[in-house]
Amino acid sequence: MTSVIVREHGGPQQLVLGDDPGRAPGTGEIAVLVAAAGVNFIDIYQRSGAYPMQLPFVAGSEAAGTVESVGAGVTDVAAGDHVAWAMVAGSGYTERAIVPVDRVVPVPDGVGDEVAAAVMLQGMTAHYLCEATYAVQPGDVALVHAGAGGVGLLLTQMIVHRGGRVISTVSTPEKAELSRDAGASDVLDYGGFAERVRELTDGEGVAVAYDGVGQATFEGSLDSLRPRGVLALFGAASGPVPAFDPQVLNSKGSLFLTRPTLGHYTADRAELVHRAGEVLDGVARGWLDVRIGGRYPLAEAARAHEDLAARRTTGKLLLIPS
Ligand SMILES: NC(=O)c1ccc[n+]([C@@H]2O[C@H](COP(=O)([O-])OP(=O)(O)OC[C@H]3O[C@@H](n4cnc5c(N)ncnc54)[C@H](OP(=O)(O)O)[C@@H]3O)[C@@H](O)[C@H]2O)c1
Repeated sequence: MTSVIVREHGGPQQLVLGDDPGRAPGTGEIAVLVAAAGVNFIDIYQRSGAYPMQLPFVAGSEAAGTVESVGAGVTDVAAGDHVAWAMVAGSGYTERAIVPVDRVVPVPDGVGDEVAAAVMLQGMTAHYLCEATYAVQPGDVALVHAGAGGVGLLLTQMIVHRGGRVISTVSTPEKAELSRDAGASDVLDYGGFAERVRELTDGEGVAVAYDGVGQATFEGSLDSLRPRGVLALFGAASGPVPAFDPQVLNSKGSLFLTRPTLGHYTADRAELVHRAGEVLDGVARGWLDVRIGGRYPLAEAARAHEDLAARRTTGKLLLIPS
């Protein structure tokens, strides 16, 4: 069994192929032949040590594939079933993963394993952001940064599906076209975006800013909000936001600032099944489109990390084990 293993924290070169015979699934676990693994920013943070991990570890945490065998006590999943998961450390970049059965969801008929792997983590993130962190209502205007990214494209479609309007930011004309195709009514450059958002909302500002870019956009996101608006700071693709005085939230309009993470919005099985189910159902019904922006063999995991970090990508990157 071949996996991408991190033995020391550091740059992309720390993603190294390794072989081991694998093991049988234990109680409550299943063994899955991985068809596709998702590449996410969290994988970069875990590789670099920004999120320290116990070494060595198999990189990645999101994948989909076919159940090969099940361990003791597993009754609701059987060999041959197609399943998907996200946020299961040590079970992504590998040919065969051992996964706790309570962390997987079934892949519905009509949805391929690649698409399922592509949509789990970013799809559930987009889902909790617009359903729970700030529940978008019909007529709400939302600002979505990195509108052509993995989360950005899915979040835009979900907001529009809920009756909201999306103003997005992107860095290139090609990304602007993708964001518009996903449903954004207005697509902006990053330069001076807060002023443009004011103009586009008749001076009022947006109800919510979804900001996964972080350092480069944080101030502008606050300046884009209407009074009592919500800044959902869910990532830091451009770097972490420096220390912040909460008094600013008062002076800019009694604003709300939250720093949410997927783990807290899928903490129990019922919530995980709810979010994954709605995302995969959206794909199956055809209103939610998943853009796979790149496929790489396991041996090129380092290149996938470099491309994602260098903002060369759109949509979702996948590793395909074989
Ligand atoms: N909190 C959570 O639950 C959660 C879950 C999943 C992901 N996230 C976060 O969400 C964000 C988006 O994740 P994703 O996987 O969907 O990535 P992505 O949006 O596909 O890629 C990141 C994008 O951010 C933009 N960006 C702006 N400045 C950047 C910079 N200096 N360096 C790199 N990128 C920059 C780029 O788009 P442009 O070129 O158009 O600017 C880039 O393509 C990340 O911060 C990630 O950590 C958070």
